[in-house]
Amino acid sequence: MGRLPVSETIGIFTPRGRATRGPSFFFPRSGPVPFAAMADLSISLAGVPLANPIVLAAGTAGYVRELADAFPLSEVGAVTTKSITREARDGNAPWRIIDSPAGMLNAIGLANVGLDRFLAEKLPTAAGLPCRLFGSVAGHSTDEYLAVARAFDAADAIAAVELNVSCPNTADGLQFGEHPTALRALLSEVKPVVARKPLFVKLSPNVGDIVAMAAAAIDGGAQALVVANTFSAMAIDVETRAYRLSRGRGGLSGPGIHPIVVRMVHDVYRSVARDAGVPVIALGGVSNWRDAAEFILAGATAVAMGTALFIDPRSPVRVARGLREWTDRQGVRSVAELVGQARS
Ligand SMILES: Cc1cc2nc3c(=O)[nH]c(=O)nc-3n(C[C@H](O)[C@H](O)[C@H](O)COP(=O)(O)O)c2cc1C
Repeated sequence: MGRLPVSETIGIFTPRGRATRGPSFFFPRSGPVPFAAMADLSISLAGVPLANPIVLAAGTAGYVRELADAFPLSEVGAVTTKSITREARDGNAPWRIIDSPAGMLNAIGLANVGLDRFLAEKLPTAAGLPCRLFGSVAGHSTDEYLAVARAFDAADAIAAVELNVSCPNTADGLQFGEHPTALRALLSEVKPVVARKPLFVKLSPNVGDIVAMAAAAIDGGAQALVVANTFSAMAIDVETRAYRLSRGRGGLSGPGIHPIVVRMVHDVYRSVARDAGVPVIALGGVSNWRDAAEFILAGATAVAMGTALFIDPRSPVRVARGLREWTDRQGVRSVAELVGQARS
């Protein structure tokens, strides 16, 4: 297995926005999907209008506009910032990204410049952004979440505040995302300070019952659910016997998790989200339009992409075009009509 170089901003991109090296399991590098379709891909997420359902996932697209080097950001509905904490964090020691047979393992550990520098240096680059910006918030205490969430709520450039209660790569990162009571308690504090913007909650897949967590998030005032973060995982070098990630464990993402997340999106949508009128942003292993279409049929209003960006940073453009053609072939005018339409 090769090890992937890590840059401070996005992970494994060179400044020109291309993956320098990466697993080859993903993409038959076919040309662009021909563009002749007319279907309406626009959607609304808790009142936030998006030009199309494609969202760039937290932590995989830099702070704000780094992927504009790879394609015009008008081609996606939204960019999510990497998760911002109140204090700056260096994250974990290398190695903190490695490849795996059907995706990658990361243990970045929420490396970021911290709230003050984000507001001063990164957020101003959102001026003129041709898509929406979602601000991802992380913390190790309620006070930390409150500080970042309050600042994001006040920031005009941020369209929605996304709470990452599910990062498996910090010592206590799971405490709020593991138990419905802890999540409700966090939301009872955070919800009142997010008064101007919709509040999204990103769930952990590392729980016994993700539907119970989704119900707790909705009870606590979540206006959209992101399903899901990475799966707790580990890799060991059999020659040296050493853990391959410095921290031992990390989070698995990429195509290997996709079918599991389809099931989670389906269950969350049918059990709680649909009746509550809370949209789901599905996230896990999307690398082509079929994966995205599957998520939509399972109940997702929007589809985010993470690991795929490390392999082909332009892949969201192909996915959006493929979705448009699929929507046409399905004989409906709008992709929104296909949400949750999976059948037996
Ligand atoms: C290198 C890397 C860094 C990530 N950083 C964050 C982060 O800061 N905040 C967060 O909520 N999720 C983070 N994630 C999780 C992704 O947003 C996403 O939930 C996960 O990778 C599954 O989607 P995928 O299979 O399309 O990659 C990160 C994932 C990767 C691979």
